[in-house]
Amino acid sequence: MIKKRILITGGAGFIGSHVVREFVNKYPEYQIVNLDALTYAGNLENLKDIEDKSNYTFVKADITNAKHIVEVFREYQPDGVIHLAAESHVDRSISDPLAFVMTNVIGTVNLLSAAHDIWKDNYEGKRFHHVSTDEVYGTLGETGLFTENTAYDPHSPYSASKASSDHFVRAYQDTYGLPIVVTNCSNNYGPNHFPEKLIPLCIHNILNGKPLPIYGDGKFTRDWLYVVDHAKAIDLVFHQGQIGDSYNVGGFNEWQNIDLVKELCKQMDEKLGKPTGTSVQLITFVKDRPGHDLRYAIDATKINKELGYEPSVTFEQGLSKTIDWFLNNQDWLDNVTSGGYQKYYEIQYQG
Ligand code: NAD
Ligand code: DAU
Repeated sequence: MIKKRILITGGAGFIGSHVVREFVNKYPEYQIVNLDALTYAGNLENLKDIEDKSNYTFVKADITNAKHIVEVFREYQPDGVIHLAAESHVDRSISDPLAFVMTNVIGTVNLLSAAHDIWKDNYEGKRFHHVSTDEVYGTLGETGLFTENTAYDPHSPYSASKASSDHFVRAYQDTYGLPIVVTNCSNNYGPNHFPEKLIPLCIHNILNGKPLPIYGDGKFTRDWLYVVDHAKAIDLVFHQGQIGDSYNVGGFNEWQNIDLVKELCKQMDEKLGKPTGTSVQLITFVKDRPGHDLRYAIDATKINKELGYEPSVTFEQGLSKTIDWFLNNQDWLDNVTSGGYQKYYEIQYQG
């Protein structure tokens, strides 16, 4: 018997595919519906290993299409929603902000409205989990950490759109009583990471002997979490988080970009059997990202104390697993970097 029906949006993307896999494998008694428009970032290859499971269904739908979203909710009658579908890359948000408003803001409101439409007579056992980012808090100086009480201060069109979607999620709780939880996570890395983002882009470029583009002076700091550990945090908060609460997710793992890329070069040289110091020579400083936030760092005390959350791997282990995955899945990398990726890359890294 089906115990819960859960609609996961963005499940063929990077983090969403790990969340879908975690839920499909861990909860055979749940029916998992993966709703995704399959943009350039969505790839059903990411879920090949679970696509035939009886508790899994894929629905191709665009969250900006309100009418279609209502139809999907009426057909599948989910008890829970885990919302990850988004335009997720900061650099793309600088060249095309409207696409981010459409999917991240309008798309989120469409999902909230559809959930309200089918749940409004009885919220018992229902939950809308919105997956957000630490970027909504803006930037830190050299010290301090983002807590759940840090004021929102987004700087890029991406983070502004995510902040706006977070506000709408809370507005649906305050106005209509919709049972919501929000997670704000730091930078993820791991298998299936699209190679427009720093770590997979550098892995791809090292494999192809291409420059490793470092924005500005490379002293920008990010707080990195292995993607499977983000999926585990989502599972915990979805099931045990307090309705109406936000949880920051991270692993207390800060790296300056330049040090991170040097560590990646070292591990890649070892794994590829190249002399130490080979890949690091590919590092190239390029013009900075406009509005580039200096430092993100998550205080993950609340999720640790309230829900007992801890990441399962160290950064060194996670990075090693990630590199191994990319080395063993070069077809995946070749597929996603053919076609539109080339055009994006030329425009983004010209001059
Ligand atoms: P991604 O870009 O890899 O995947 C996004 C997915 O959403 C893709 O499968 C895409 O096809 C789908 N999608 C995009 N527009 C859609 C639309 N209009 N309708 C339906 N589906 C659509 O993103 P990701 O890195 O996996 O991020 C997932 C979520 O987690 C996002 O909400 C992001 O803001 C958040 N997040 C990401 C990180 C990170 O480091 N990547 C960290 C914290 C939070
Ligand atoms: O903090 C969470 C966020 O992390 C998520 O909400 C976003 O969806 C996700 O894309 C990520 O955003 P970032 O902008 O931090 O990730 P990105 O990999 O694009 O960049 C990481 C850092 O590396 C950042 O300081 C910019 C820098 N960078 C990035 C690229 C692509 C470079 O120096 N060179 C590059 O070519």
